[in-house]
Amino acid sequence: AIRWQHSSAQPTVNSVTSEDIVHFAKFLPQNAILSTLPPISVPPSEIEQYNADWMGKYRGRSTTVLRPQTTEQVSKIMKRCYERRIGVVPQGGNTGLVGGSVPLKDELILSLSNMSKVRSFDPNSGALVADAGCILEALSEYISLHNHIMPLDLGAKGSCQIGGNVSTNAGGLRLLRYGSLHGSVLGLEVVLPDGTVLDNLSTLRKDNTGYDLKQLFIGAEGTLGVVTGVSILTPPAPQAVNNVILAVPRFENVLPLFKLARQHLSEILSAFEFIDRTAYELAVKHGQGRGLSDEEIEGAECFVLLETSGAERAHDEEKLNTLLETLLESSQPLITTGVLSQSPAQFASLWKLREGVTEAVAKEGKAYKYDISIPLASFKEVVDATRERLRSKGLLREDAVRHVLGYGHVGDGNLHLNIAAAAYTPEIESALEPFVYELVASYKGSISAEHGIGAMKTYAIQYSKSAVAIDMMRRIKQVFDPHGIMNPGKVLE
Ligand code: FAD
Ligand code: MLT
Ligand code: ZN
Repeated sequence: AIRWQHSSAQPTVNSVTSEDIVHFAKFLPQNAILSTLPPISVPPSEIEQYNADWMGKYRGRSTTVLRPQTTEQVSKIMKRCYERRIGVVPQGGNTGLVGGSVPLKDELILSLSNMSKVRSFDPNSGALVADAGCILEALSEYISLHNHIMPLDLGAKGSCQIGGNVSTNAGGLRLLRYGSLHGSVLGLEVVLPDGTVLDNLSTLRKDNTGYDLKQLFIGAEGTLGVVTGVSILTPPAPQAVNNVILAVPRFENVLPLFKLARQHLSEILSAFEFIDRTAYELAVKHGQGRGLSDEEIEGAECFVLLETSGAERAHDEEKLNTLLETLLESSQPLITTGVLSQSPAQFASLWKLREGVTEAVAKEGKAYKYDISIPLASFKEVVDATRERLRSKGLLREDAVRHVLGYGHVGDGNLHLNIAAAAYTPEIESALEPFVYELVASYKGSISAEHGIGAMKTYAIQYSKSAVAIDMMRRIKQVFDPHGIMNPGKVLE
């Protein structure tokens, strides 16, 4: 038997000082340095947005944000931080949902937001090479001129950056069709903790020359180095896209529905997303997309948003209509209503009902977010068990937990279990954790399907990973970051 010894002693890292600021000012333009320290001395309010995460759950105390414009500048910053043992938090769009993108203490924040140039695009192969700070939506717009699309899409597209997407191995709404970033990223440029540039920006589809190092940085959450450039394979834009929202009377129908959709639509099925009734109602309440009529949602326990992407509109519509007829015609229909979008505006509005749930939950209160992989058939029992747990603790009340809801990427076996609460409190947290993680482990699931570990789940990683695997992760961390300066306290405790 292999024993796993947990070494909790984090290497200590140093704080940024005024001397460091003076050093950075030698090679960075003045507007690339935000610091409350002299000689810059901006008011703390100017760096508040970098210290606070998207949910308002995690808050750092950093004094200094650097916003370099080139890989060379990133390299010089890291060289200094390595020599001085300064902790560094790489930050993209700061839309992460596990507290990985903000410091735990006063680490230096290295924002990639000023590195936002497209480096090249090859319309023949679809290979796009871009600075890590490019915003996902901006890249989508750029390649749409060449009739290509990004292989990933997510609700945060207007703020998240491609370097952040790679660093979290973001999944999102297109994974069912285009697979994960482990498949579509062709190469990366990474500045290692000591300032060395690892130039691995290949545009090749095939390259079996030994260990595939880029894979280690995909999903590393800034703990191994700073991603400064990304080479990614983009597929041609589909000629026709359709979507339909299905009102489903019982959760038990979702699995047979998914099987039938795959049978009927095969290669044109591009998304199969799930929202339960509570998620739907919150999205509508907070103006996320136009809801269905009262008649259409009567008796619906949950909803499925299905998308097709194909080469010919008439052909795809025919397939979708045949599927809808099959679903409605049987003696025990699997759905009560199916509403097919009729215009680009309706198409966007149906998507908003699903994509907008995250924002709706945030408007409803403080969100506890559990992003789990479990068998599809158990989505509902996990949501129900969590609600019951909170009820049994007397926490299901307006001034504590307001809603327990489920939504997610059915096609990928990924449920988003969310708890909208009046406030983040130790009482609610201890009712939920490790309860949820134990539940996930009982299904041999994953405690993080796509959002990562960040600061939130470091203590819980053993619910999904073996001691041997965690030990290998520690050794890899040691190889790349021997002084523990990269995003300290994230992913590994
Ligand atoms: P940040 O939040 O800034 O950082 C995330 C992590 O990556 C941090 O650990 C940070 O240190 C590290 N990092 C960032 N940039 C770099 C870099 N250049 N080099 C090294 N490390 C870096 N996630 C999904 O997987 N699927 C979804 O469908 C999805 N939908 C979302 C919808 C909304 C409305 C929101 C708010 C979030 C959503 N997310 C989703 C979570 C989040 O948007 C993604 O994880 C996203 O990929 C993070 O990108 P970012 O640029 O904002 O990174
Ligand atoms: C989603 O699928 O909407 C995202 O992962 C964000 C979330 O979990 O809220
Ligand atoms: Zn998701």
